[in-house]
Amino acid sequence: MRLLPKLLAATLLAASSLAFAHAPADDSLYIGLGAKEGIRKIVATFVPLVLADARIKESFSETDIKNLTLRLEQQFCVLAGGPCEYKGSKMTEVHDGLNVTNAQFNALTEDLQIAMERNGVPSRIQNKLVALLAPMQRGIVTK
Ligand code: HEM
Repeated sequence: MRLLPKLLAATLLAASSLAFAHAPADDSLYIGLGAKEGIRKIVATFVPLVLADARIKESFSETDIKNLTLRLEQQFCVLAGGPCEYKGSKMTEVHDGLNVTNAQFNALTEDLQIAMERNGVPSRIQNKLVALLAPMQRGIVTK
């Protein structure tokens, strides 16, 4: 008779883990950005905008642009809920010593919005990505 509750518990456990296994992760932003290819295109537009932006380009004079591009693709993909892994350094470590100002942070965000606009990303989706970047400001801006 004691077996029944155990069996019931086991069944419930199995059912709930199945439910979790099938619960879809929220990848609506990832899809909205155009998935991997969309993000690749956005970053491919974004990086040259940053490198041409008089307000911030100086900071990137010694940066490995190929690496930066790859890391940004990974980071945006992860932030958007996509099936990626960010393999770069922590934001605080990367930007430590760069003396990034709020104005520079805003300039870079503006360039990202232009890049998304040029790639046909709806403003609702643009705002979602920008909102996810906003909390990073504290770790990036040091001046
Ligand atoms: C939302 C804001 C920002 C995000 C999400 C961001 C993200 C990143 C990422 C993912 C990397 C590559 C990390 C790695 O290589 O492991 C990076 C590097 C870098 N970022 Fe930012 N960044 C932001 C703002 C800024 C701003 C405002 C500046 C300066 C104006 C800046 C300057 C740099 C530089 C110079 C590097 C290269 C560092 C190096 O090569 O050692 N970033 N950033």
